[in-house]
Amino acid sequence: MHFYSFMRLSRTLRPLRPLRWITAAVLALSLTLPALAGHGDTDKAHKGILLVAFGTTVPAARAAFDNIEEEVRKAFPGVEIRWAYSARQVRSTVKENEGTTKLSPAAALAKMGDEGFTHVAVQSLQTIPGSEYSDLLKTVEAFRDMPKGTRTVTLGDAMLTSPADMERAATALVSSFPAERKPADAIVLMGHGTHHPANIYYPGLQYYLSKVDPNVYVGTVEGVPSLEDVITSLKARKSRTVWLMPLMSVAGDHARNDMAGPEPDSWKSILEKQGFIVHAILKGTGEYDTLTAIWVDHLKQAFNELDN
Ligand code: CO
Repeated sequence: MHFYSFMRLSRTLRPLRPLRWITAAVLALSLTLPALAGHGDTDKAHKGILLVAFGTTVPAARAAFDNIEEEVRKAFPGVEIRWAYSARQVRSTVKENEGTTKLSPAAALAKMGDEGFTHVAVQSLQTIPGSEYSDLLKTVEAFRDMPKGTRTVTLGDAMLTSPADMERAATALVSSFPAERKPADAIVLMGHGTHHPANIYYPGLQYYLSKVDPNVYVGTVEGVPSLEDVITSLKARKSRTVWLMPLMSVAGDHARNDMAGPEPDSWKSILEKQGFIVHAILKGTGEYDTLTAIWVDHLKQAFNELDN
């Protein structure tokens, strides 16, 4: 726009005498330069972080989010941290129950753009790169081309993405078990599971876990391996005591009801009915610093990419 107005201005200046022309050119430049300096591309960088979780309607489960935020704050002192919940149902239930507004990833990114954030590193707090992650990637990509919005938006990987992540998570998971757990006791991790091809990460993690501790099993609520698959393994190994633990960022609805709830169809009830002694741990992976560190490292990578 500035270029065209300058062209139009210089065309009308052609008949002027040299001294007047120089005066006019200096005047035109002095008017144009501050306008160019105020243009978005020369603005000072203002970097921010957006943490994206599925969300939870269980207030006590947010201890995991508080811990994640604390770890992120330690790694990025002075950088503003925002949150978004990707689940619409969770957002509306939280609004209904607590009167609190949680933003979607798109709403949070739009708001940050309006507030003048020039660079935003988004961190996915998903466990695997499934449909929640690929939806978030699409949202991030859409905001990369947003006129007058944030200039640069990057996305940090889900917890389990590379083979190195899997190895690290397996070691961190095994070391997070309570001291009361005896080596003969089995540990059953409850993952969410999905119809998305990334469900393969659950049996994939099983491979890495088995190398660290042969008494740890991964099961899922909605995918493979199922609880039946896990029970087959427990029986083959003649396990008697089972520790249940969620393989999700928070110990929310799935952990409290599907895993450890009193209903006859919870994993705890089903296992007890089969004769196992069951202990349930109601802590999400976000409550363990060694596991949270994997997300924080992925965020560090996304944050560094802001300068590329
Ligand atoms: Co679910």
